[in-house]
Amino acid sequence: MTLPAAGWKIQLQAPAAAVDLFASALEPFSLAVASFGDTPDGLWTVEAYAADRPDQALLAASLLVAAAAAGIDAPPLGCEPLPQKDWLAENLESFQPVRVGRYFVHPSHHAGPLPAGSIAVEIDAATAFGTGGHGSTCGCLSAIDRLAPALRNGPALDLGCGSGILAIAIAKLGCRRVIAADIDPEAVRVCRENLRINAVAGRVQAVRAAGLGTRNIRAEEGFRLIVANILARPLMVLARDIAGNLREDGCVILSGLLAAQEPMVLGAYRRCGLVLDGRITIDGWRTLILRR
Ligand SMILES: C[S@@+](CC[C@H](N)C(=O)[O-])C[C@H]1O[C@@H](n2cnc3c(N)ncnc32)[C@H](O)[C@@H]1O
Repeated sequence: MTLPAAGWKIQLQAPAAAVDLFASALEPFSLAVASFGDTPDGLWTVEAYAADRPDQALLAASLLVAAAAAGIDAPPLGCEPLPQKDWLAENLESFQPVRVGRYFVHPSHHAGPLPAGSIAVEIDAATAFGTGGHGSTCGCLSAIDRLAPALRNGPALDLGCGSGILAIAIAKLGCRRVIAADIDPEAVRVCRENLRINAVAGRVQAVRAAGLGTRNIRAEEGFRLIVANILARPLMVLARDIAGNLREDGCVILSGLLAAQEPMVLGAYRRCGLVLDGRITIDGWRTLILRR
């Protein structure tokens, strides 16, 4: 993945039914595309990040085609230089620091300063997945950063925690009750070590569990956030349990699916009463934000 250190941000707003068309129109010009249904007037925001200034004429033409397909006028387009503090990823080869939103994920040998205002997460490459360089993990970190104000009190569940990177990211927002669960005992061991290194072991409980069926990952009142970066098919199998363990005002972040797998995963969660509230695509890996 090669997100820019200081690239360009392209932004527009569109009705929900046209979001896919505009996101697809922006994809050839960008490294990552995200969309969020959070404007007060019911429109969705579609954002794309590009390394270089996109060709304005080509971009406008592509959006005109999308608008025509959606049967609407092309919406106003924003295209501006990206401040370094929003997206920085100098070189996302393994073991290099990764910046996503406010998060700065770095290995223990990182000797440079931490960027001002960043939330540092220290993770070394080990026997558990999750050093921050994968598009699915980056998508989750971006979504967690976006949902941050609502997450302070938790409880939150990181299902398929791997290295624990997402549970640590949530705890570092101030969330006091986080459960990190993984089917793989080695991942749970690595996760516990990373919790200690990041000084969040008092807030995060790491447990071995396959899905939500076990007692050790129940929250009486339901979870405020469940994040699961697994794979499309296991996510579909888990849909009922995830929806059933979510608080009324809860959010779900799903990742580990490819863009083409979104309809089948989303369908499984819609049948459990959840609706799409945002999507992020990085390197073809799609992250979905859902709520009731
Ligand atoms: C792609 S890794 C994600 C790691 C980390 N959360 C991240 O975002 O980088 C998926 C993890 O899910 C775990 N996993 C797969 N199926 C699971 C299940 N049914 N219940 C719990 N964990 C599961 C795997 O062992 C693996 O550690």
